[in-house]
Amino acid sequence: MKSTVYIETMGCQMNVADSERAATNLRRAGYDLATSAEAADVVLVNTCSIRERAEQKVYKRIRQLRGLSSRKPLIGVMGCVAQLEGEAILAKAPDVDMIIGTRATDRISTLIERLRDGERAVIDLDERGPGESWDVSPVERHSPFVAFVPIIEGCNKFCSFCIVPYSRGRERSRTATEIVNEVKRLRELGFREVHLIGQNVNSYRPRSEEGLEKSTGATPFCRLLRAVAATGMARIKFTTSFPRDFHPDIVAAIEEWPNLCDWVHLPVQSGSNRILKGMRRGHLVADYFRSVDAIKNSKRRMSLTSDIIVGFPGETDADFRETMNLVERCQYDGLFIFKYSSRPGTPASRFMDDVPESLKKTRFLELEARQFELQNTIYRSYIGRAVSVLVEGQSARSEKDLTGHSTCHKVVNFQSDSTQLGEILNVRITEAKSYSLYGQQVN
Ligand code: SAH
Ligand code: F3S
Repeated sequence: MKSTVYIETMGCQMNVADSERAATNLRRAGYDLATSAEAADVVLVNTCSIRERAEQKVYKRIRQLRGLSSRKPLIGVMGCVAQLEGEAILAKAPDVDMIIGTRATDRISTLIERLRDGERAVIDLDERGPGESWDVSPVERHSPFVAFVPIIEGCNKFCSFCIVPYSRGRERSRTATEIVNEVKRLRELGFREVHLIGQNVNSYRPRSEEGLEKSTGATPFCRLLRAVAATGMARIKFTTSFPRDFHPDIVAAIEEWPNLCDWVHLPVQSGSNRILKGMRRGHLVADYFRSVDAIKNSKRRMSLTSDIIVGFPGETDADFRETMNLVERCQYDGLFIFKYSSRPGTPASRFMDDVPESLKKTRFLELEARQFELQNTIYRSYIGRAVSVLVEGQSARSEKDLTGHSTCHKVVNFQSDSTQLGEILNVRITEAKSYSLYGQQVN
């Protein structure tokens, strides 16, 4: 009988994509993928280290897995915690068998073989090998309709608070030919939407022009967007955009190509120039507003979302007021708010984490409440309008309803008796809920 592997994924879309890739490779090497940890011979936990809380979750989960089944599965730690902590994981969790870094997704079967040959605690924190393939089998994708396509890995920005440049290494972009071919294949397989993903998609900088020859644009990313749009894939989203590298030609490309979706995720982190400098973001508030204006002044109505950190070292009430003002001005369709969490090894970890937890919480709640009101007004403004929805499944709330995302990346629930999953249809919005829209299919 074949050995079975179960992969549990925490964290961001890049981890989801890495798990899909690891699963593809494992199946090729002769393993079966299990549907639960209890049933597996090998359990891999793909981990996140963006904030301290995420990291604590990993160790808790490993302890749980140990007690889970009498099969005593082999346990592997993948992802950012594996890459950052390496061997040190064994001190906290001695019965971990494998430590699999962020670039070792294609070598897991070899690591399992080494364990079977009698080695103990195998560790692979190396770079990707030459010619390792980005192929992901359609059966391993997280959805039959929506696919994540990494275009750039790693990060060179070194924002002072952020662990990603250490956990994921330097930026490496795939060639446009590879990306475009993958999107074409996905289209043939019936996928309706791709998300071009990367820590900073708009910093895309491939080693060669290969595959970009026929598309124009102000930056390699703008050219890639047009090349991917020309594949005819029904919907194309991309995330995350980095403010300093945001070129208005991105908005122009979205205006030209209806299949480039009307949504930009542009994390700002703070509304105070003083804090932005401390964060080493490389942009000021005024620069950010220029990009926001380009997005908001588009001929297409665009959705804008962002990330903000409250309680960065030295953040005063005045700094926080500036963040509140920025949020007022930007009118975000959605906002992820985080309390600053000091990450060992980052430049900011040497600053005093001097905003008390209670004040971080107060600021978090105030910002969240105001964003909720602003967002509500935006959501209500959709009432009466039709949006294009990719039907992804049954609504969790009601058996009669289906659910999906709009091109502007809002959750839309609607009533339907006849619709098939994977269809793209127009839904007229009749109601705005807290974090979703509700409507009726239009014929
Ligand atoms: N590459 C993206 C996202 C990086 S991680 C960017 O350019 O912003 C996702 C979000 O987590 C960040 O945008 C930031 O808001 C948050 N984050 C990262 N490090 C953090 C930390 N140390 N404490 C709190 N939030 C953090
Ligand atoms: Fe992190 Fe800044 Fe890169 S937030 S992922 S270091 S752009």
